[in-house]
Amino acid sequence: MTESDKKKIEEQDLNTYEGIAEHYDTLMTDGYYDYDEISKNLCAIIGERRKLMELGVGTGLVADNLLKANPDFKITGVDNTPAMISQAKEKLGDRIAYELQDITKLSIDTRFEAAFSVGGCWYFIDNGPDKELEFCSHIDDLETSKQGLKNVAEHLEKGGVLALALQAPHTNYSKELSNELTYSQEIFKEDNGFTKHYSFTSTQGVIAEQFYRYLVLPESEVHDFFKELDCKPLGLCPSRNFFVYQKN
Ligand SMILES: C[S@@+](CC[C@H](N)C(=O)[O-])C[C@H]1O[C@@H](n2cnc3c(N)ncnc32)[C@H](O)[C@@H]1O
Repeated sequence: MTESDKKKIEEQDLNTYEGIAEHYDTLMTDGYYDYDEISKNLCAIIGERRKLMELGVGTGLVADNLLKANPDFKITGVDNTPAMISQAKEKLGDRIAYELQDITKLSIDTRFEAAFSVGGCWYFIDNGPDKELEFCSHIDDLETSKQGLKNVAEHLEKGGVLALALQAPHTNYSKELSNELTYSQEIFKEDNGFTKHYSFTSTQGVIAEQFYRYLVLPESEVHDFFKELDCKPLGLCPSRNFFVYQKN
């Protein structure tokens, strides 16, 4: 990491999407995630359940696709970045409910039949079929992240499921987007995780950027913790896109 990056980290709020929210949808819908596939797999996991909570709803891209698949879903989107929630509101209006809350302090006066996170508060990194998954947390402090997971378990009904999406390991790359900006990401390995630098560049130079520090844990440690929360690890869904837990 350069001295200039270190200085920016000191000056910018870390662990928020405020810095890049404006460009988030262009990046994501230019192939970062396949939302149709994600929605199809989530629908199969959710089954007949209807009362859903999205952990890190962001700009509402997953919720939008889910509602196209089934307009009867009742989705509550939780997110702690105001600029992301504002975009979700523009996209979805009153088709979902919003909770501008930090998951680590989650308090909603209802219980859900299913909760899910697609690159949201938590996800798994898929290092290949023969290797252990890695649990990746947007909350970079272990105890605080565990508090968030505990909160989610407490907001699930008995028999409710929690689905955490899998994604490929992070790499350094740059790519031209459809709006003529270039997206670049750079990964800096650290003890217990990594820092990711997201940046969007025009011909004028960098127009938006964000540093985010992630905590990474072995999957076995996380499965053991979920057992303590009375949630049974059910395993990977057949498409290998989600790991699923169920509250006893
Ligand atoms: C990569 S985005 C994913 C958004 C959406 N799920 C999607 O697929 O496009 C991660 C989201 O998680 C939210 N997030 C991260 N940490 C959070 C926390 N502690 N509490 C609530 N939301 C959080 C961020 O604000 C961001 O909007």
